[in-house]
Amino acid sequence: MPVSNSAASAVSSSLPKWQLALAVGAPVALGLGYIYYKNSSQGKPKGPDKSNGTAPEKQISIDGDSPGKNIRSDRPETPAAKAQRYKTLGNEVFRVGKYDDAILYYNKAIEACPLEDKNELATFYQNRAAAYDALEKFTAVKDDCTKALELNPKYTKALIRRAKVLEKINELELALEDITAACILEKFTNSSALLAADRVLRQLGKQHAQELLTTKKPVMPSKHFIKTYFSSFRNDPLLSAEAINLLDNHGSPGLTNAVEAFRGERYDDIIPICTAEIEKSDTSLSDKMQLLLLRGTFYLLLGQPDKAIGDLNAVISNESASKEVRVNALIKRATMHMQLENSSQCLKDFEKAVEIYPNCGDIYHHRGQVNLLLEKVNEAREDSEKSLKLNPEFGIAYAQKCYTDYRHAALSRMPNLLESAMENFEKSFELFPDCCECYTLYAQMLCDAQSYEKADEYFSKAIEKDPKNATIYVHRGLLQLQWCGNVIKAMEYINKALELDDKCEFGYETLGTIEVQRGNLKEAIKLFDKALSLARTALELTHIFSLQDAAKAQLKIGERLGADFIFGIPNMS
Ligand SMILES: *[C@@H]1O[C@H](CO)[C@@H](O)[C@H](O)[C@H]1NC(C)=O
Ligand SMILES: *[C@@H]1O[C@H](CO)[C@@H](O)[C@H](O)[C@H]1NC(C)=O
Ligand SMILES: *[C@@H]1O[C@H](CO)[C@@H](O)[C@H](O)[C@H]1NC(C)=O
Ligand SMILES: *[C@@H]1O[C@H](CO)[C@@H](O)[C@H](O)[C@H]1NC(C)=O
Repeated sequence: MPVSNSAASAVSSSLPKWQLALAVGAPVALGLGYIYYKNSSQGKPKGPDKSNGTAPEKQISIDGDSPGKNIRSDRPETPAAKAQRYKTLGNEVFRVGKYDDAILYYNKAIEACPLEDKNELATFYQNRAAAYDALEKFTAVKDDCTKALELNPKYTKALIRRAKVLEKINELELALEDITAACILEKFTNSSALLAADRVLRQLGKQHAQELLTTKKPVMPSKHFIKTYFSSFRNDPLLSAEAINLLDNHGSPGLTNAVEAFRGERYDDIIPICTAEIEKSDTSLSDKMQLLLLRGTFYLLLGQPDKAIGDLNAVISNESASKEVRVNALIKRATMHMQLENSSQCLKDFEKAVEIYPNCGDIYHHRGQVNLLLEKVNEAREDSEKSLKLNPEFGIAYAQKCYTDYRHAALSRMPNLLESAMENFEKSFELFPDCCECYTLYAQMLCDAQSYEKADEYFSKAIEKDPKNATIYVHRGLLQLQWCGNVIKAMEYINKALELDDKCEFGYETLGTIEVQRGNLKEAIKLFDKALSLARTALELTHIFSLQDAAKAQLKIGERLGADFIFGIPNMS
């Protein structure tokens, strides 16, 4: 499920991301995929650190003193020994912060060193890079690291140093390649390298998302998606069953056209109809407000946040608009702020909505989901309680309340609370036998509790209730991975999801992640492209780009470092 459009979807999608990572055993922070170093059984990859038999200088990141190698005066010093001597001198002055002097010694070491002593030479370049680094001469750092890596392509320290400097000068793609290579060489054990990779991926993802957003064509979500989206608003001023009833009796021609298009699922027509009616001079103020709200909502669904915000603002700021209309617009603007990662602004909009119309259940329903996302479980509980009180017939609100209570119970580790949360959930199947959310959220909870078999049963019941819902199939596929690592079955479910809804971004994204795990990087990159074309919000795009960028970096490294890197997960059939 895309993180877009409603906080509801954000909640259900916040779970599978880490579950997926867990399921496939990848470093959670990375999305890099599990990469298996072929030579792992033969011990650590050889690096220059060990080549001269001395401990690497971890703290100061320069390599190799050789105190044992005293120069014997009765023989002429060999070039190699001379180089070592200069390096040792360089390291000594480096330690006391005389970086310019250190550079001079490393220059001499490099000059003296025989060209065939590749690892030694690489060390001298790396050490000189460290000195340049201390002086913040970034181009020189980069150049020296590059020379070190030409001599010794698997020199982790040089990779990490170059990655850092590339990050500083904003060459993020190259930085990612280096840091990924370093992570692989260190077999994902170096947490500082992992964090660096995560940081670069995020930045790069954000940057790519911003670039794409300026050129991206808007995509109308699937019909099923749109219907589900509107069904999360019980008090929709225009499209709730009650409102439509009212309209049928006292038809206003301006609104009727738009509502007819909506009922006929002619979603592509809605924006043009609204625009035409808004521009007519005889459209009443209240109709105009309704039409602006509807048009703004469709801009939101299309992933055009600026236009959406424009329409929503016009409604929110116009005090002659009805409170129902303004509050609905505020809820939608709030969720958009959330997508822009501005949670304080989001909560402010909810507060404003409460001021205007405190008895509107939709406010609490959506705010509860946001609070759950923000891990504010107590606030989420209050909200879900209020939401259910105001809309007692709303199955989704009931399911949400049960799920929130469960989260609270799980966090507070109180077994009796957990039990009562489960019992309430089970009641939901009698109270709202057709509400798909009751089954999926229950299944989600069972997944958390690692009751996989039962979770699968409830996903299957959810599918019975809502057979056109592609998202549930994706979840069921993820469950297969988590449960027993059954890739084939997982892919079957996800392909089924894509059959049902070829605009299911979540399906492409998940399939792409699985292909990364299987080492099919090129296929994964294609699937991520597809997901990108369907994603709507900056947040979604950023996330997918970071997955794709990670896959691209791995592909490049495979080319760069050759065949002794194997991508793919062992033991996954
Ligand atoms: C991990 O990487 C950092 C650089 O980011 C390096 O300084 C450190 O020595 C590495 N740790 C290990 C255990 O290799
Ligand atoms: C499908 O089901 C999930 C889980 O119940 C729900 O969150 C989502 O809104 C539904 N609809 C779509 C279009 O995904
Ligand atoms: C409210 O909207 C109407 C119709 O678009 C417009 O004429 C009026 O100026 C607006 N009022 C305010 C205070 O913005
Ligand atoms: C959130 O939005 C408000 C209003 O648009 C803005 O003033 C504030 O700086 C934003 N905060 C963040 C963290 O982006």
